[in-house]
Amino acid sequence: MNWVRVCSRQDLRDGEILSMDVEGRQLMLIAQNGKVYALDRICTHMDADLSMGFLAEGQVTCPLHLSAFRLEDGMALNPPAERPLRRYNVKIDGNDIYVQVV
Ligand code: FES
Repeated sequence: MNWVRVCSRQDLRDGEILSMDVEGRQLMLIAQNGKVYALDRICTHMDADLSMGFLAEGQVTCPLHLSAFRLEDGMALNPPAERPLRRYNVKIDGNDIYVQVV
């Protein structure tokens, strides 16, 4: 159980995607409707950077071939991507946001 502090609450506004590298992993942090999600940011189809993609209600869409991924669990919602994104647990402690890197 390795919790890593990744940023402060004010670094991430609602509706924003924050790109970051944490312990060798390429992640994105997303705030939406008061929740914070941490997912791999490299698309499982052809390595596009999803932090450059489009955020909609409950999902992020790849900028290259438009596969959408669910924020809750990283599930690929439409082709061409088939494999889910890895999702990480997030903890908010006061003003700090932590991601559990396993
Ligand atoms: S690279 Fe993301 S859908 Fe193709």
